[in-house]
Amino acid sequence: MQQRTLGRQGLRVSALGYGAMGLAMAYGPTDEREATAAIRRAFDLGVTFFDTAELYGWGEGEKLLGRAIDGFRDDVVIASKFGFTRQFGYDSRPDHIREVVDNSLTFLGVDHLDVLYQHRVDPNVPIEDVAGTVKELIDAGKVTYFGLSEAGPRTIRRAHAVQPVSVLQSEYSLFTREVESLFPVLDELGIGFVPYSPLARGFLTGGLKGSTEEYDSTDSRRSGAGLPWWQPGNFEHNHAIVQELTSVAEGKGATIAQLALAWLLSRGEHIVPIPGSRDPRRVEENLAAVDLALDAPDLDAIEKALGDGPAGRRNSEGVQWD
Ligand SMILES: NC(=O)c1ccc[n+]([C@@H]2O[C@H](COP(=O)([O-])OP(=O)(O)OC[C@H]3O[C@@H](n4cnc5c(N)ncnc54)[C@H](OP(=O)(O)O)[C@@H]3O)[C@@H](O)[C@H]2O)c1
Repeated sequence: MQQRTLGRQGLRVSALGYGAMGLAMAYGPTDEREATAAIRRAFDLGVTFFDTAELYGWGEGEKLLGRAIDGFRDDVVIASKFGFTRQFGYDSRPDHIREVVDNSLTFLGVDHLDVLYQHRVDPNVPIEDVAGTVKELIDAGKVTYFGLSEAGPRTIRRAHAVQPVSVLQSEYSLFTREVESLFPVLDELGIGFVPYSPLARGFLTGGLKGSTEEYDSTDSRRSGAGLPWWQPGNFEHNHAIVQELTSVAEGKGATIAQLALAWLLSRGEHIVPIPGSRDPRRVEENLAAVDLALDAPDLDAIEKALGDGPAGRRNSEGVQWD
């Protein structure tokens, strides 16, 4: 697997990582045996970057990931995150950060976190206090690298001045491109970028289902009216884009998931997407994207297929970048 460097502090990982959110939230029930096989398949195929968070099952996701990587923990980079409350509010108070990190170390069964992200900016805690707390944790050996998620340019600069930020993680896919406006700041400060939900939460895959009712009752794509891309009226438009993209992919002997991931990889050497799947075969499919080269006509064909983009907003409503 190709390697990429995130930031200027020495963080080096496989060009594609593994997103572990679906193990414990968002996409319906998980079969631990199957999910463990998926994680181990990812490692066997060269993935060295595993992404989790306190939020993902409040310990359950970290425990499952910790069990799955037991035996090769020292060969991989583990990223986790703090900052949500159980009511989906924000809490980045220093004491809370320290408590969450200690819990994550216990749940994962490790003695340090390689990357620690603030999951969401907390408007009630100055980012300097957050960065200062992470710096203390780095000095104490509990954390190695600092990351932010869904942070805006001023916040990134202010945090970086206290503790260098190695990586920003925000939503980025063929369906969600707003974050491209932040790339100049990342370039200037030498910060790496991790696109989350790189397959648009499964919309940009062969696993797309036509109705929110076809998803498990605990799947977030079904809850309420489902995510905006799935809502009637939006879905038909977005499905037509998927069909166009699938034709482009098939012309390359690839799948739409591979095309979506190869497109992200083509956007810059500082980019490491973290697709999530609990299915070993899908993991294999997704990882083959590192070998899918896209040339200028391919990129043009992708833009043409996207047209004016999908109908409906991404899921992270209410996130304000400052
Ligand atoms: N920082 C943040 O706020 C934040 C927010 C969201 C996500 N994340 C991180 O980003 C990671 C990835 O995002 P995500 O899981 O939301 O979305 P994603 O990777 O865009 O899509 C995951 C969904 O697609 C399905 N899938 C994956 N590969 C497939 C394939 N080849 N064919 C068919 N279906 C496929 C998965 O189902 P199966 O599991 O059933 O295969 C799952 O339902 C997360 O795991 C998490 O680590 C971070």
